[in-house]
Formats: sequence, structure tokens, C-alpha cells
Amino acid sequence: MLSRLQCPQIADAAALLARFRITDSDLALVKKFRREDNADLENYIEEFYKWLTPQPFFSHFFPDERRVGVTKAAQLEYMREFFAADIDDAYVESRREIGSVHARVDLPLDIYIAGVSVNFENCVEILASRRQAHATIAADAAGDFQADVLRHDDHR
Ligand code: HEM
Repeated sequence: MLSRLQCPQIADAAALLARFRITDSDLALVKKFRREDNADLENYIEEFYKWLTPQPFFSHFFPDERRVGVTKAAQLEYMREFFAADIDDAYVESRREIGSVHARVDLPLDIYIAGVSVNFENCVEILASRRQAHATIAADAAGDFQADVLRHDDHR
């Protein structure tokens, strides 16, 4: 078992970023992703609840609609802050507080990580569809160019 000395609690943002090898250029990419993501963040929340609502544990953690509403609003703010990608000590502290809210309701870690995985999947899907859209635009542009060349040839 690791002692606290071997696995210290990291308090400051810079040390955490270094531990996870998150660089300024990684953060710049997150910001870029957000800027170019036309789908609004509400979409992430909706996708997340599409997964969460049918789970067998859902009603245990969300016994009423009010808690769902309050949590959705908090998660939207969470996503805004996440994509702002300004990782300072205050950000780390705010994430720690959110972690302690989940600990207070005894949310098992594997369920939380499953939620993170769902969010990650949603990001990947957005990236993939964006890449597809770019490929389609490029193919259309190439098609238009070809048609222009042919038309030009016809008139010679
Ligand atoms: C990426 C994953 C997740 C994120 C980003 C997230 C984010 C949040 C945030 C920001 C809050 C509000 C914390 C506060 O009051 O300050 C919250 C509360 C809560 N979350 Fe999560 N959450 C995640 C996964 C989950 C999962 C998988 C569950 C499973 C049921 C869950 C259950 C809850 C519950 C029940 C509350 C309300 C606790 C209370 O106020 O009594 N969360 N979450």
C-alpha cells in the first residue's frame, strides 16, 4: 500500500499539470476545441443524461426532479470552466470541492469514471463529425474546382 509520503496530495495547479503531463499547448487545444465547437455545452449535458438516466443507480442519487435540475445547472457551469482551460489553484480547489460533494453522496469512483468516459466519448464524436464535415467541404470544393476546369476546357 502506498503511504501518503509516496503519494502526496498535490495542492497546487502547476504541480498537478506537471504530474499529468498537461502542457500549455494541450490547454490551447482545449480552448481551440471550444471555440470551434458550434454545438453548445447544453448538448453535452443532454448526452450525459441520456446515458445517466436509464442507469439502475440513477434514482438512488437523484430521488427527485429538483436535484436533477440543480445538478444539471452546476454541471453546465463545470463544462464552461473546463473548456475555458484556465487551470490555476482556484480551479483545482473548485474541482476538489466538487469531488467532496460526490464523496458526501457516496458516489462510487467507478460510476464517476464511467461518467467521465461518457463525456470523453461525446468530445471524440464531436471531433470525428467535425473532421467528416471538413472532409465533405474539401471534397465539395475539389468537385467544384474540377467542374470549373471542365467548363473552362469546354470553352476553349
Ligand atoms: C464527468 C462526470 C461528472 C461531472 C463533471 C459531475 C459534476 C457535478 C457537479 C459540478 C455537481 C455540483 C457540485 C456542487 O454542488 O458543488 C455534481 C453534483 C452531483 N453529482 Fe455529479 N458529476 C459527474 C458524474 C456524476 C455521476 C456519474 C453521478 C451518478 C449518479 C453523479 C451524481 C451527482 C449527484 C447526486 C450530485 C448532487 C449531490 C447533492 O447536491 O446532493 N455525478 N456533479
